[in-house]
Amino acid sequence: MSTDAARRGIWHATATTRRHPQLEGGHRADVVVVGAGITGLTTALLLARRGVDVAVVEALRVASGVTGRTTAKVTSQHTLLYSQIASKHGEETARTYAAANQAAVEQIADLVDAGDIECAFERRPAYTYTRDEATIGKVRDEAELCRRLGLPASFTDESDGDLPFDFLGAVRFDHQAQLQPVAYCDGLARMIVTAGGRVFEGTRVTDVTDGSPLTVTTERGSITTGAVVIATHIPFLDRGLFFAKVEPTASHGVALEAAGHLPHGMYITAGSPSRSVRSFHHDGRSYLIVVGEGHRTGEGRPVEHERALIDWASQHWPAAQVTHTWMAEDYTPQDSVPYIGKLARTAGSIYVATGFQKWGLSNGTAAALMLSDLAVGRDHPWSSVFDPNRLTPAASAKTFLEHNLKSGVHLIGDRLRGTSMAAIDRLQPGDGIVAGVGAKHYAVRKDDRGRITALSATCTHMGCLVSFNAAETTWDCPCHGSRFAADGTVIHGPATKPLQREELPEQT
Ligand SMILES: Cc1cc2nc3c(=O)[nH]c(=O)nc-3n(C[C@H](O)[C@H](O)[C@H](O)COP(=O)(O)OP(=O)(O)OC[C@H]3O[C@@H](n4cnc5c(N)ncnc54)[C@H](O)[C@@H]3O)c2cc1C
Ligand code: FES
Repeated sequence: MSTDAARRGIWHATATTRRHPQLEGGHRADVVVVGAGITGLTTALLLARRGVDVAVVEALRVASGVTGRTTAKVTSQHTLLYSQIASKHGEETARTYAAANQAAVEQIADLVDAGDIECAFERRPAYTYTRDEATIGKVRDEAELCRRLGLPASFTDESDGDLPFDFLGAVRFDHQAQLQPVAYCDGLARMIVTAGGRVFEGTRVTDVTDGSPLTVTTERGSITTGAVVIATHIPFLDRGLFFAKVEPTASHGVALEAAGHLPHGMYITAGSPSRSVRSFHHDGRSYLIVVGEGHRTGEGRPVEHERALIDWASQHWPAAQVTHTWMAEDYTPQDSVPYIGKLARTAGSIYVATGFQKWGLSNGTAAALMLSDLAVGRDHPWSSVFDPNRLTPAASAKTFLEHNLKSGVHLIGDRLRGTSMAAIDRLQPGDGIVAGVGAKHYAVRKDDRGRITALSATCTHMGCLVSFNAAETTWDCPCHGSRFAADGTVIHGPATKPLQREELPEQT
């Protein structure tokens, strides 16, 4: 397999997806959903099945965002998050979060069934385990809390030989699931079209003009509509200031082909370093999937993080061979609960869903359950807990300040630190740096054949400097998580405009 194919991650490499047309000209729809990941597609499908005229507009392809680069565990077990939510907001909020996410697991199972979606959906138990004496108490407390919240949870100290090592204890959730996320999304898109909805690919939305009706402007045409659901992972509109309320954190993924026993259950460590593990069987081959090594997007050393995952997997499954590697990011909300619902202070009905903290297959589906009611004027019993306009200073002030302080340090400090243009001469093939002269900074890369390309290093969202990700050959912004391909194209928002090509000044 070519390096590029291997870097797309295992899910895109093992699924064939149908294409959808680009949007051209002017259209009308009752509801426009922006983004064809699990959140947008599920929302659109639930609406279309109720007879709502819905159009999905996707910048790239179906599942080309984070949904196509996840671990793809479908579970209401979210490491030790329930204890965190209960301590910040109380048990009633944790109970609503639990109900929403457990309902999402069953919603996914129902849709797989209803659409006959071939996506390797398999019921599996989920475990959050620890091998560390200092964490065992927290694991016991989480198991007990989750049981009280009505989740299918218990404490166990038996791995029953499913892993090549023992653990001291784990929270076990029964009747959870795993799937192939790209195949699942392809199935959802097919079901939307069958139900009378429209799916447009290759069409980036650049603006939403507020009013009644709303106008969704794209690079290729526009749609007038009664309601817009922004399901772009992080809203690309700056209304609502979500970029300041959620922190971008990346994780790395590795797939390894292996023979012999692979885990039947799905496992994740209770603490750091994070290791999330599951198996996947496709086309007569068996794979181990290992995901972890979280760090703020645009920081860290992606190549080393990836190496650490490979070393860990090789230590425990020595015969396994690496087949795919990838990276993806998600957003952590400041008070531990995602932001889902209608934006305040807009004349038209604009809805958002973000801050899934690496549990967005269930949270994104829970968002769809809520938004498909709210977008047609119905209340939803969970929506006050997820209110995107909420103010929770006691639960969020510390993380809000830390995140925005880091963004501020990047915005100003990265420019002051600067790297001299002379460093470009020392670049190795495959590497990249940000080098500056005065106020101007260049994102400079030397490709494997030794050719130098230069882009503006200034992120088109709010002006922070991007940094080079050598594992992915991307330029990643540490402020709010925008990511750009080697040619400057946007591959992850909130930015909507590419990094511009630049000519390097003469002296280099
Ligand atoms: C490494 C990793 C592992 C994870 N593992 C799990 C797991 O095991 N279980 C779990 O539940 N969750 C997991 N998650 C989280 C989960 O994958 C995500 O939260 C979820 O997939 C987000 O789905 P989404 O639809 O909101 O966003 P996305 O899948 O990113 O979809 C957003 C879409 O919007 C499109 N878009 C963006 N801007 C525009 C625009 N301007 N116009 C048009 N389209 C646009 C993008 O191209 C993209 O296709 C993981 C996350 C990471 C990073
Ligand atoms: S993502 Fe906001 S400045 Fe780059």
